[in-house]
Amino acid sequence: MTMDNRPVLFLDSGIGGLPYCYHFHQGNPKEALVYLADREYFPYGSKERPELIRRLTGLLNRLRGSYDPKLVVLACNTASVSALQALRKSFPDLPLVGTVPAVKPAVLASKKRHIGVLGTSRTINDPYIAELTAKFGSDCALTTIAAPDLVEFVEHRYAVSDAQERHLAVLPYIEQFRCAGADAIVLGCTHFLFLQDTFKDAAGDLSIHDSLEGVSHRAAALLDQRDLCSGAVFPDRENILLVTGNSFPEPVWQERARAFGLSLCSEQNY
Ligand code: DGL
Repeated sequence: MTMDNRPVLFLDSGIGGLPYCYHFHQGNPKEALVYLADREYFPYGSKERPELIRRLTGLLNRLRGSYDPKLVVLACNTASVSALQALRKSFPDLPLVGTVPAVKPAVLASKKRHIGVLGTSRTINDPYIAELTAKFGSDCALTTIAAPDLVEFVEHRYAVSDAQERHLAVLPYIEQFRCAGADAIVLGCTHFLFLQDTFKDAAGDLSIHDSLEGVSHRAAALLDQRDLCSGAVFPDRENILLVTGNSFPEPVWQERARAFGLSLCSEQNY
């Protein structure tokens, strides 16, 4: 077995991929991490597919030059739905893991045979969601809702919000899904993982599903299959938080990143 100490790169439009990065880190503590928050381009959800492909291709080219990641996790449903295939073509030698909305577990859990997917406009307007639903549950109805304001809330207000504010932010979506008749809801945007407990508390008898486990598992399995695992923690290793754009996130955001236990000790504009 060889030892590959190059970092695993996580990428999102902002703070949304942090829960995914943290989950992976807990199961794979020896792996070095680089997390890129593409805040200059936030939000991804209002952009068109070609624009996202261009942006992500450019970013990956630069990041490969600077950090030589051994694996990339697109910790963003919008980026994955829009650009994963194109990026695989452009970077055939770079293992890429996408974030696929947890439609399958929702379909399996739904007693009413009606699931709901909450995501960005770009994600829910992509035919991929309906195709996934038909693949795993041809008898299952699908209701999709775009929630750009909730993405905005997590990115810019979550860290300073209280439980009541979070509850009020989430409740209208639960009610819309309930009224539509859906009983299994997919958090189809990584930002919503920050509100996972709030969703579960507000959901009552509706079930809430996410792709946290699946993405971590896929990333770890790929490292293993391709013999890319890091055998040890390098003493001088640094996990790195990169942020695009001129405005560095407000201090409370940075505290939040640290609170995720990633010891992202070097913070840089990129
Ligand atoms: N966190 C992203 C997702 O999973 C996108 C949010 C945004 O930038 O609109 O879709």
